Order: sequence, then C-alpha cells, then structure tokens
Amino acid sequence: MATETEVRAMRRALELAATPGMPTGPNPRVGCVVLAADGSVAGEGFHRGTGTAHAEVAALAAAGERARGGTAVVTLEPCDHTGCTGPCTRALLDAGVVRVVFGQADSGPVGAGGAATLRAAGVVVEGGVLADAAAALNEAWSFAVRHHRPFVTWKLAASLDGRVAAADGSSRWITGPQARADAHLLRAEVDAVAVGTGTALADDPQLTVRDGGGRIAPAARQPLRVVIGTRALPSDAHLLDASAPTAVYPTRDLAAVLDDLYRRDVEHLLLEGGPTLAGAFLAAGLVDRVVAYLAPVLLGAGPAALAGGGIATIAEALRLDPDDVTRLGPDLRVTARVRRPTPPAPPEED
Ligand SMILES: NC(=O)c1ccc[n+]([C@@H]2O[C@H](COP(=O)([O-])OP(=O)(O)OC[C@H]3O[C@@H](n4cnc5c(N)ncnc54)[C@H](OP(=O)(O)O)[C@@H]3O)[C@@H](O)[C@H]2O)c1
Repeated sequence: MATETEVRAMRRALELAATPGMPTGPNPRVGCVVLAADGSVAGEGFHRGTGTAHAEVAALAAAGERARGGTAVVTLEPCDHTGCTGPCTRALLDAGVVRVVFGQADSGPVGAGGAATLRAAGVVVEGGVLADAAAALNEAWSFAVRHHRPFVTWKLAASLDGRVAAADGSSRWITGPQARADAHLLRAEVDAVAVGTGTALADDPQLTVRDGGGRIAPAARQPLRVVIGTRALPSDAHLLDASAPTAVYPTRDLAAVLDDLYRRDVEHLLLEGGPTLAGAFLAAGLVDRVVAYLAPVLLGAGPAALAGGGIATIAEALRLDPDDVTRLGPDLRVTARVRRPTPPAPPEED
C-alpha cells in the first residue's frame, strides 16, 4: 500500500508530467518525485523529450545524496532499456533508492520490465498508484503503441446552431479568446495538426502554437503541420513558411497518411478542419476523441461542423461518450470520445 505521503507525491508527479508542451517528440509524459528517507521531498523532475533525461534521472539529479534510502514516486513504470539514455532502473539502483512507487505499468515495446528488475535487486516496488490518472495522461501514446497509428482528436469551433463558418466562408472568430487560448494548449499537447486543402485555401492558417494564456512552456516544440488533399497550395501560403515544419500529402487516402505520420513518430494528431476532412476521418473510423468549442453565437447559414460522416438515419447516429464539459468565458468546451465496438469475446474452451 502506498502511504498518504506517497499518494501526495504521485499527485505532484502527475502535475509535473502534464507540463504543457512537454515532452517534445514521441515519448510518454512522465513525472517523478523523489522522497528522502524521512519522507520529505528531495527532488522533482519530468521528461522533456527525446534524448533528454528521463523523469526519474532528472528527479534523482535534483535530489543528490538525499535519494539514498528514499523512495522514487513516478507516474510510469521505470524503463529497463538503454535507448538514448541509460535504463532508469540502473539510475534508481545506483542512487540507493529502496522503494519505488509507480502509476501506470509500461506496456511499450521497449520500456517494460522495470518493476521486475528492481524487485530482483531488492527494491520494494508498488505499482498501480493513481494508475487511471497516469494512464489518462498518456492515452494517445498508449493507443499509438497498441494500434500502430496516431490517436486522432478532432477539434472544432462551432456556433450554437452547429456551423463552423458563415455563409461567405469566414470563420474568425466564432469563439472567444479563452477558448482560443485553450485550443493552443491542445496544439501544444499533440505531435501534429492537420487540415484539408479546403481549410488551407480558405483560411490560410498558420497552425502554430502561439498562445496558451501563459501556460505553455517556452521551450515547447511546434507540432508538425499537415495538409491533406490533392489541390496545390500557393507558394506564399502560411503553412509553407518556416515557422514550423509542414508535411503536405497530395492524396485523399487517410489510412496511408496516418501510416506515414506514425512512421514519422506522430502519436497524437489534432484534426483541425474542416467539415469535409472531418467527415472523411469519421466515416473511416479514424476519430478517437472530439473536442468541440461551442459559442453562444447563431450563424443561420454556412457549413455544418460535419459533412457526411456516413450517417444516413438517426439509428446510425454516432453516439459519443462525454468526458467533460468546461465553461471558457462565454463558450463551452465539450470533450467526448468515440465508442469503439466491443471486440468479440474469445471462443470458450471445452
Ligand atoms: N470552425 C472550425 O472549427 C473550422 C475548422 C476548419 C475549417 N473551418 C471552415 O471550413 C471551411 C472549409 O471547409 P472544407 O470542408 O472545404 O475544409 P477541409 O475539410 O479542411 O478540406 C476539404 C478538402 O480536403 C481534401 N481531402 C483530403 N482527404 C479527403 C478525403 N478522404 N475525403 C474528402 N476530401 C479530402 C479535399 O481536397 P482536394 O480536392 O484538394 O483533394 C477536400 O476538398 C472554411 O470556411 C473554414 O473556415 C472551420
């Protein structure tokens, strides 16, 4: 059983792991708090991205000698492999930690097995502490590792009558500044942001992370910008400028695009537009989560949030499981996930 102090330390480690814009690159979000032998906080750390210290190593470095005889509280099972950095299990053993408390078990192809290694070396290991919160933090990473494609979040900003633009195509701005700052936070959390050529040509968006109400770490990377569609963009399009990398896919084959993005280490894709591309993603079963910003604005005409989507009758309506509703200034943010059919149960054995 984890002690109250350890659970408190886990809450802090979860906060550290959730630092907006971190980590950069295809990595799980991980936070760690090292408690000294007397239970006081000796060091804190979180993972900042590929090639940088893992959360445990950062927290151990901050703790120094105070880690000896202490406890490492970490959101993800410590890794047991040598990648860009050494195994965390080795670092924990070298630091003289006698107890390790972790949240989510590491089911990744390379990192798993840390708990067993630590136990074999005599460290007391307690797993599964606030495991749901730890797993939620890395939902996209876990999904991508399991399914070999990026987790797709479709983000939209709509009027109360479900329009994403006015009749003349103008859509700036439907929502207020708080909702827009929140949308930038969302961008800072993903590896790539995608639009169709329709949005790219109509809005000439930048799709960069610019403003998160001061909550985005200055070192946050820019997500890869992705344009999907057969029409060419003008050479002076913002999406082709040097402010962030851009991948242009002159195709309508979404599975092939996701395949290529996964190979480019994209584990979380934010789909930002527009109704046609969103409909095609939904019809192909490639949307996992929806984040809708709803403004108390009426547009009367203009494109609906979703074109098609393969739904012909109310019985075919795609029912979502709501996760959260939050008020942002005058607007509402509704987060929901797409229900997946339950896989058939394995045949019973005789
Ligand atoms: N409020 C919001 O949240 C929001 C967000 C985004 C956009 N918008 C508004 O939406 C409008 C643009 O809408 P839109 O629907 O034209 O934009 P879109 O969905 O971004 O782009 C549509 C284009 O994507 C390409 N495409 C790629 N793969 C496809 C596939 N599998 N199936 C079908 N098309 C595919 C096609 O272009 P090709 O012909 O080149 O192949 C298609 O015309 C603008 O007025 C914009 O302001 C609003």
